[in-house]
Amino acid sequence: MDNINYLNIYNYINLEEKNEVIEGLVNVGQKRLDSKFFYDDYGSKLFEEITKLNEYYPTKTELCILEKQKKLINECLPSSASIIEFGSGSNKKVKKLLNALNNPVEYFPIDISEKFLFENAKDFAKIFPKIKVTAICADFHQVDQLREIVGKKKKKIGFFPGSTIGNFMPEKARKLLENFSYILGNNNYLVIGVDLRKNKKIMENAYNDSEGVTAKFNINVLERLNIEHDAFFDLKEFEHNAFFNKKENRIEMHLVSKIRQSVDIYNRKIDFQKGETIHTENSYKYSKEEFSILSEEAGFKVKKVLTDDKNFFGVFFLKVKVKKEEIK
Ligand code: AVJ
Repeated sequence: MDNINYLNIYNYINLEEKNEVIEGLVNVGQKRLDSKFFYDDYGSKLFEEITKLNEYYPTKTELCILEKQKKLINECLPSSASIIEFGSGSNKKVKKLLNALNNPVEYFPIDISEKFLFENAKDFAKIFPKIKVTAICADFHQVDQLREIVGKKKKKIGFFPGSTIGNFMPEKARKLLENFSYILGNNNYLVIGVDLRKNKKIMENAYNDSEGVTAKFNINVLERLNIEHDAFFDLKEFEHNAFFNKKENRIEMHLVSKIRQSVDIYNRKIDFQKGETIHTENSYKYSKEEFSILSEEAGFKVKKVLTDDKNFFGVFFLKVKVKKEEIK
């Protein structure tokens, strides 16, 4: 195939990751691990399974919006554009977006899970032979490097589906949006999927599926620490817990220690009380208005918001509007 290129600019500095893991776990208060640790090869596959579950409405709803509202999408976005997807996963959603656009020319999937990224990009390049594909293994916080790679393209559409933005505390989410606007440059677009706040039971069920896939996905983080970070977690002694934190407007996922125990990691001991948890994920749920305000604070203009009949999910069409004096 000649329409595909691979780049790996992911600074996989294990030392930094090691410190991050240790810091999060030795914490005297709430123990925590960043939710990016879910996405090793097996974790990415488990997430794929989650997206097919009955209870997990976000993916299905977002796909449905992208599928059904092609005409509106087409009207909102430029033709002959390059698409840059932050955290591309299985590329399923971008295919719908591309089908709605006129003459998309290039696709840059960006993901930290190298094997998963390259395999999916290869399949994608076969299905869209006219689109030039550049798969970039990177963390989307590597802003300067990413800006350099995509900077020369004329018309750009950033794509950040799946409500991944919900994994960041609002302050960090705003910062991330600012980074995207910097990577994309003035007058370019960002299409971003956001899970909207709704009935608590519906939200909680999505993170407590009856087949236990989400539980497996959560527990897999410990397996990963065992394999990659010299840890000795006994997976049987931890259980999955997910609930809606009303005050913070977010679903929280935790791993609960079933017993009082102490676990070795890098030759240190981490003590757990019975019932003590490791906080592994936040998934913020916004209202349309709240997310619009956040986007505008980050330098975007809200062009359109598409939702489903039930208002479960929002696809926001944003345009970078940097004030002249702020252009770097
Ligand atoms: C991938 C960030 C959209 O927050 O819903 C699914 C991941 N976690 N089930 C989400 C997830 C538990 C997820 N996102």
